[in-house]
Amino acid sequence: MSKPLDGIKIIDFTHVQAGPACTQLLAWYGADVIKVERPGAGDVTRSQLRDIPEADALYFTMLNSNKRSLTLDTKTAEGKEVLERLIRESDVLVENFGPGALDRMGFTWPRINELNPGLIVASVKGFSDGHHYEDLKVYENVAQCAGGAASTTGFWDGPPTVSAAALGDSNTGMHLAIGILTALMHRTKTGKGQKVAVSMQDSVLNLCRVKLRDQQRLDRVGYLEEYPQYPHGTFSDVVPRGGNAGGGGQPGWVLKCKGWETDPNAYIYFTIQGHAWAPICKALGRPEWIDDPAYNTAQARQDKIFDIFAFIEEWLSNKTKFEAVDILRKFDIPCAPVLSMKEIANDPSLRASGTVVEVDHKQRGKYLTVGSPIKFSNLSVEVTGSPLLGEHTDEVLGGLGYSKDQIAAMHEARVV
Ligand code: COA
Repeated sequence: MSKPLDGIKIIDFTHVQAGPACTQLLAWYGADVIKVERPGAGDVTRSQLRDIPEADALYFTMLNSNKRSLTLDTKTAEGKEVLERLIRESDVLVENFGPGALDRMGFTWPRINELNPGLIVASVKGFSDGHHYEDLKVYENVAQCAGGAASTTGFWDGPPTVSAAALGDSNTGMHLAIGILTALMHRTKTGKGQKVAVSMQDSVLNLCRVKLRDQQRLDRVGYLEEYPQYPHGTFSDVVPRGGNAGGGGQPGWVLKCKGWETDPNAYIYFTIQGHAWAPICKALGRPEWIDDPAYNTAQARQDKIFDIFAFIEEWLSNKTKFEAVDILRKFDIPCAPVLSMKEIANDPSLRASGTVVEVDHKQRGKYLTVGSPIKFSNLSVEVTGSPLLGEHTDEVLGGLGYSKDQIAAMHEARVV
């Protein structure tokens, strides 16, 4: 079956997570993604956090499926010549080197544009061009701190906290993928390539939009009624950490279920959606709260919201998280069990939808990965194993017109 991005050739100069997450997504949808790696070493994640000696680590395999691997030393004259040929033939070059690395390699934007005016050059950096921190190298948690996520995550009596979700890395990669697809659309209209840049700080901030909303509300009125600090605690002049509060117009909290004393994930998230108040009261066996003016509006409930959560925890104390959700779903209450990674790995629905997939790898054998979170009616995404280092070097060089002897000489000289 043909895929939407068939025929799009991508030079994948990415490493670690932010860039590889982007190019993996494009590879799933049909692009020919050629991962360019340093001979002998490759992407650092091939050997980081290894669980099987000498085999590519899961960190690498889970972010580089459906790609081809070309080893190439782009700091040698012959390596640069190969890269020039690739640039002439490709549609997109994606990179997430430290600031200035591509320029230092000799591939400035004017030079690339001269080689192939239709090429899209897509970059991830920690901070945007011209930012006072533009020279900084950045990893995930640095971005979460710089993008406003850490100062607004965690509990009010603890330090700023980072999220386990890759807001700085994979999230930035997803933003970059949108940028690349937009630039490809633009190119079909104009024939022209362009530079697409996404910073990790900006991508984190884009997901913290509601916290910037809250800062402005706080500046204006001095309090935020949906935060646990209201009405009994105090506010300073900055958005506080709100623990597990809902953050929108719907109060919510993580609540203990049966077994929480020994199981770290025996919890559900419970949301008190305004119009679901009557079903909630019925589910909890408190029908008298439905019309009680002390409870029947969000405003009336706010000063006793933690007493209400404590009452719900009492109700939950003899129910597992799954039993609780099975009851509450019948009352249309937005809630979910807190799932461990082990439960997610074995979840039959996630397996059936292709969100959790088992993939075969030449060195590792079978492993689990996260498949496409985007589902299409006209495309079924097949996730294949990640390439070994340099697995496709000869094939790619042959495709660029190099003869067998020339390829052998490049191996001999360790250019590839
Ligand atoms: N052949 C020859 N040299 C190569 C090469 C190849 N195939 N591929 C990379 N290199 C060189 C680069 O040219 C660069 O050399 P230079 O600094 O002498 O010019 C060097 O390898 C790579 O540098 P860099 O990307 O800065 O690696 P690093 O390990 O020092 O830093 C990061 C890693 C992630 C901190 C940095 O790349 C970065 O800040 N990236 C942007 C933000 C980002 O994506 N961070 C999140 C990653 S999940």
